[in-house]
Amino acid sequence: TYVVTENCIKCKYTDCVSVCPVDAFCEGPNMLVIDPEVCIDCDVCVPECPAGAIYDENDVPEGQTSFIELNRELSGQWPTISQMKDPPADAEDWDGVTGKLEYLEK
Ligand code: F3S
Repeated sequence: TYVVTENCIKCKYTDCVSVCPVDAFCEGPNMLVIDPEVCIDCDVCVPECPAGAIYDENDVPEGQTSFIELNRELSGQWPTISQMKDPPADAEDWDGVTGKLEYLEK
């Protein structure tokens, strides 16, 4: 399964949503996650993310493995998103900023 990691927080570009064939993405206030029960492991979303935030669960960068469980947990609480939307106006400013987990809104 694929996992959305920290760099999505406050970037939330949603390009990933436009290519997902199974609507596996779920939307929170400032981040998306992938529902591991819906993801079919096709990987088309990975190159679409301008923030490089999506990884195979086996290749999640060190220090970000907590996002595997977070995707599972939050996908059970957040609604499915099936259409791309405009990113936050300051998305570019947050791209690549580290330590964004503290800003995650649930
Ligand atoms: Fe997030 Fe990248 Fe999708 S920033 S919303 S995982 S395109």
